[in-house]
Amino acid sequence: MSVRVLDDKTINKIAAGEVVERPAAAIRELIQNSIDAQATKIFVELESGGKKLIRVRDNGIGMSPEDATLSLQRHATSKIRSDKDLFSISSLGFRGEAVPSIASVSRFEMITRTKDAEHATKILVDGGNHVSNSPSAGSVGTQITVRNLFYNVPVRQKFLRTDGTELAHSIDAINRELLIRPHIDIEVRHNRSTVVRAPVVDTLAQRAEKILGNQAKGLIAVEGTMGAISVRGAISPVGVHRATGGNNSYLYVNKRFVKDTALRRAIKEAYQGLIPKGRFPTVILLVDLPPEDVDVNVHPAKIEVRFKRVKELTAFLVKTLRGVLQEIGIKRAVEAKRVSAVPQPVVSPVQPASIQPALWEPSRASALSAAPLSAPITADIHQPSSLFQDWKPSSNVMEASAASVQDTSPQDTQTRNRSFPDSILGFTQDAPLKES
Ligand SMILES: Nc1ncnc2c1ncn2[C@@H]1O[C@H](COP(=O)(O)OP(=O)(O)OP(=O)(O)O)[C@@H](O)[C@H]1O
Ligand SMILES: [Mg+2]
Repeated sequence: MSVRVLDDKTINKIAAGEVVERPAAAIRELIQNSIDAQATKIFVELESGGKKLIRVRDNGIGMSPEDATLSLQRHATSKIRSDKDLFSISSLGFRGEAVPSIASVSRFEMITRTKDAEHATKILVDGGNHVSNSPSAGSVGTQITVRNLFYNVPVRQKFLRTDGTELAHSIDAINRELLIRPHIDIEVRHNRSTVVRAPVVDTLAQRAEKILGNQAKGLIAVEGTMGAISVRGAISPVGVHRATGGNNSYLYVNKRFVKDTALRRAIKEAYQGLIPKGRFPTVILLVDLPPEDVDVNVHPAKIEVRFKRVKELTAFLVKTLRGVLQEIGIKRAVEAKRVSAVPQPVVSPVQPASIQPALWEPSRASALSAAPLSAPITADIHQPSSLFQDWKPSSNVMEASAASVQDTSPQDTQTRNRSFPDSILGFTQDAPLKES
């Protein structure tokens, strides 16, 4: 058998196997492109959980006819120029792979227009085969329609689950991207019913409440810096925990949603002894560090990263989170003591009896505070209700101002679709918040 180089269509299909494993992955890639294009409004339409139709429309910068054609070529990207840029990535995309991959495994349509163009450009691709390029009507921004995902990859199609399951994954993917971007107006419709509606709001806290519902209520704000590293977000106070571990951790590194074992381990350690076994806190954390200190090019879906100084980072996180948890716990305990004026053990009033002794475990706390760190840590500690409301996003060059966006939608609420379980909307997991 002779060795030969594969044709582009086959290469794209192989890449699609890694990048686009289900409708949710295609949606994630398209939304990330809209975010990178500075969109302040994103509208998503889905049919059959995304299996039949995915349409993502944005009001971003759009593409010229030439760029639109190029974007369908493998490794064509506007986001990096050379290998050096790989170590200082500030955009969500950088490989130039997503659009051609998706187009190779679907019936694909792109309509895009820049603000200076007289008209939009429409490109049709069918299973990786270019069908047509033509001028078209269309407003500034980009609309991509993906029909019948995997219609030409029957093996992959067979692995797709029910509409409900695919929709649940799709909404999770959307929520993860939009949770930390309150300046983006988002609407998602499934089979013509609105399933997510989150207009522009001022703070991350307001967006979190909109998207996560009850799960985001009562969280305590956390903020800390160590040299060029900073962390901010909101976490469950001691005594508030859930029965499920999935969908409780919203971790972002330089505004990229990640599933990172080092960060998860740090969170677990921070809550050690403060939470009963088998229960999980809700954690929304934004870790920002110099792009050259983190490698994002380690996973096809770009949801895993590698840190240069992982020990330093995790020690900083443990200390910051633990400090906030203990401070809030102490304040509540002192308040409770003052009110009752009866001698009682120093424990948080929201602390379940079963885990009280471990809460103030002195050896653990002092071991943590003795963690070696190269730069001083500052952790700002706030009472839950007040600061969490002030938990504002910092500016980001990739993110445009939301000031000009008008919310024109008649609906201003996140609507529950009755035909699917609550969990798909991210409102509740299998158990309600437990206040003990
Ligand atoms: N919604 C959009 N608005 C404006 N430009 C877009 C949009 N979607 C894609 N593009 C352009 O098409 C290019 C290719 O997109 P694609 O998603 O394939 O690659 P990428 O985002 O650069 O990298 P990655 O494969 O890591 O996502 C992008 O670099 C961008 O210039
Ligand atoms: Mg992309």
